[in-house]
Amino acid sequence: MDLSYILNELGEDRAAYFNAVTPPIIQSSNFACRTVEEMRYMLQHETEVNLYSRGNNPTVSMLEEKLAALEGTEQAIAFGSGMAAVAAAVLSQVKAGDHVVCVKKPYIGANKLMRHFLPRFGVEVTLIDGTNAQNFAQASKENTVLYYLESPNSFTFELQDLAQVASIAKAKNIVTVVDNSFASPLYQNPAALGIDLVVHSATKYIGGHSDVLGGVVCGTRERIHQIFKMEYMALGAVLSPHDAWLLLRGLRTLPIRMERVAQTTRQVVAYLQQREEVAEIIWPFLPQHPQYALAQKQLRNNTGQFTIKLKTDDLKQVETFCDSLQHFLMAASWGGHESLIYPAAATYKEGSYKSALPFTLIRFYIGLEDSEYLIKDLGQAFAKMVG
Ligand SMILES: Cc1ncc(COP(=O)(O)O)c(C=O)c1O
Repeated sequence: MDLSYILNELGEDRAAYFNAVTPPIIQSSNFACRTVEEMRYMLQHETEVNLYSRGNNPTVSMLEEKLAALEGTEQAIAFGSGMAAVAAAVLSQVKAGDHVVCVKKPYIGANKLMRHFLPRFGVEVTLIDGTNAQNFAQASKENTVLYYLESPNSFTFELQDLAQVASIAKAKNIVTVVDNSFASPLYQNPAALGIDLVVHSATKYIGGHSDVLGGVVCGTRERIHQIFKMEYMALGAVLSPHDAWLLLRGLRTLPIRMERVAQTTRQVVAYLQQREEVAEIIWPFLPQHPQYALAQKQLRNNTGQFTIKLKTDDLKQVETFCDSLQHFLMAASWGGHESLIYPAAATYKEGSYKSALPFTLIRFYIGLEDSEYLIKDLGQAFAKMVG
């Protein structure tokens, strides 16, 4: 399907709403039936009809149709946040007594779900280094039902070979779920590589303006219906019509935002490579990265996240650099218009130097600003850092 068609037309029945070019926000919890027979039909076909908005809502459905088309899957289901989508996808596959294999260091919320939530319900989880696909096979047991992937994963951007892991999983009848937020649905399509369920935090690139939270799970009709009937309806983490509308608006400009972010990021990384204050740049799109070949094979383009390691062993210097940036905002998340840093040093507890990550690491997200504007900001912060 043509990308322009998906983003501008698919699912949009303009004649039904005064030929408005912008989709309507159907801000209604309820949809009325005229007869008992109609209501009976509605109740029996709850996955397809509009009866109650913790179910289907026309504005949300329009978004779901576009996201499924972007990921190349039969269907998609939207949630109120990326974590709601991750949780629904994972919970839909497990029961007490099952075993899950998960990449180590997934996004912090997924980490919590795996390490602290699932074990409470009798699901055992093994965290592995996903850079070698054989590690999935080796960690699998008789009762393994799910491989949970995030590629590239958060902060340090390790990749998994999605096609290889999917083929190992298929041979063992194990379901695969991947968090594809890093790449957006434009730059990586895991379902085409054999992955069963593809999840996004739509809060990131899909929304693109840092003004909405959302999530989506994409997969076959059968798997999405299963999630709809159970995790979606029973846990109720739905996306509101207004938030679906904001995400639809975000989608209109997704290709140009992604292109701009990709280009500016390459320029900023090229600048940082020349700075002697930078010991390392962790970015799978640099030829010297150990997984460069896989990144080239699996992703269509680079995105805006990378991590640098500052060349210092002085926490104060790291703090001075970060605190001195004037245009990069210090915040969580990414994918919006604004460039961001997330210093690992911020994860250190007062008086303790213990964290999963060295304090010299800083994750960057490059937004929509001019590269010169950002580079100038970095230059003045480096000058303050070395004093
Ligand atoms: C890779 C990744 N997945 C999932 C999430 C969770 O998304 P949300 O914040 O929309 O719940 C995040 C949030 O930062 C993320 O970075």
